[in-house]
Amino acid sequence: MRLLVTGGAGFIGSHFVKRMLAAGEDVVVLDKFTYAGNPANLPDGIECRRGDIATRGDVDQIGPVDAIVNFAAETHVDRSILGPEDFVHTDVLGTLVLLQAAEELSARFVQVSTDEVYGDVEPGWSSREDDPLRPSSPYSASKAGGDLQVLAAVRTFGINASITRGSNTYGPNQYPEKLLPLFVTNALDGEPLPLYGDGRQVRDWLHVDDHCAAVELVLRQGEAGQVYNIGADEEHENVELTKMIVEHLGADRSLVRSVEDRAGHDRRYSLETAKVRALGWQPRRDWGEGVRATIDWYRDNRDWWEPIKRSGGFREYYDKQYAARLG
Ligand code: NAD
Ligand code: DAU
Repeated sequence: MRLLVTGGAGFIGSHFVKRMLAAGEDVVVLDKFTYAGNPANLPDGIECRRGDIATRGDVDQIGPVDAIVNFAAETHVDRSILGPEDFVHTDVLGTLVLLQAAEELSARFVQVSTDEVYGDVEPGWSSREDDPLRPSSPYSASKAGGDLQVLAAVRTFGINASITRGSNTYGPNQYPEKLLPLFVTNALDGEPLPLYGDGRQVRDWLHVDDHCAAVELVLRQGEAGQVYNIGADEEHENVELTKMIVEHLGADRSLVRSVEDRAGHDRRYSLETAKVRALGWQPRRDWGEGVRATIDWYRDNRDWWEPIKRSGGFREYYDKQYAARLG
């Protein structure tokens, strides 16, 4: 299969690219190389074009493909609160442009979406695929907009498209703005770990290998117009993950600082995943082992994250997000 992976230089996309190459597929990457796109994530020799998924000419440079898996997105909730425009551009308009290309090419299409489109869920409930969408942040609202474009394109234009909604994903190569890589690299640098609010928010943690395995299964076996939740049923409070990081690194506990909460902060995500499990998927990575292996990866791969954290772009973002919070 000739497969277009958009956002293939980002965190999950790059793991997916490696997985599909190992499966013998003919992979081409389209990536805008925003701050989150990193050539160091890509395997040597991969066919890769720079371009914006929201620009039809950039998409058309790829030529015919059998399938498109769309990982390209603006992905960080905190950045969407600081400035939502890029999120609407890429996550909504970009998805629409890719759907138009998929229609012309008669290509299979998988939209990689998120559990955040459901908004936060009460204790005792897990979001089903047909639950109403109640996004809380400009990020999740944009992802929900992309999902709705996909469902409309299936119905109106007969596109062979499915949607995956994955939960909080962790593993190597994640840009160090997200909780786990930020806290691990800050701890390694002896810098504070800024825990929002009371730190009792719950996320359902999923290893990147398990996330990619599920996306591959949906690509090959998912039905048009269907949505598939992907979660490992590993619900943990942020304080628990923070404690694991501090203990595994033997860091000073006083580095953990309770800071002003995220605006509109979702309290809990939880997914009902029977549908993807019925296709034959189940998570393989154990939470404790996976988290500790991920912490070890950042400890052992300073050459991957140090250039990012020392860059002007990162420092500028970090100051905007944390300077006032940390005092
Ligand atoms: P990431 O931020 O690490 O990477 C995003 C990639 O998309 C980067 O390589 C970036 O350069 C590229 N990109 C951004 N705008 C683009 C554009 N206009 N055109 C082309 N490329 C563009 O993201 P990630 O964490 O790997 O997430 C990948 C996908 O998975 C996203 O759609 C995200 O919503 C979804 N998702 C992420 C998680 C998570 O926990 N990370 C969980 C569920 C779903
Ligand atoms: O649930 C899937 C989503 O998971 C994806 O769609 C998003 O792309 C991805 O970024 C992630 O979103 P979150 O907002 O849950 O991830 P983040 O790592 O930013 O935050 C995880 C939790 O940690 C959340 O409750 C906020 C908290 N947090 C985060 C940061 C960056 C802190 O307490 N302090 C921080 O500095």
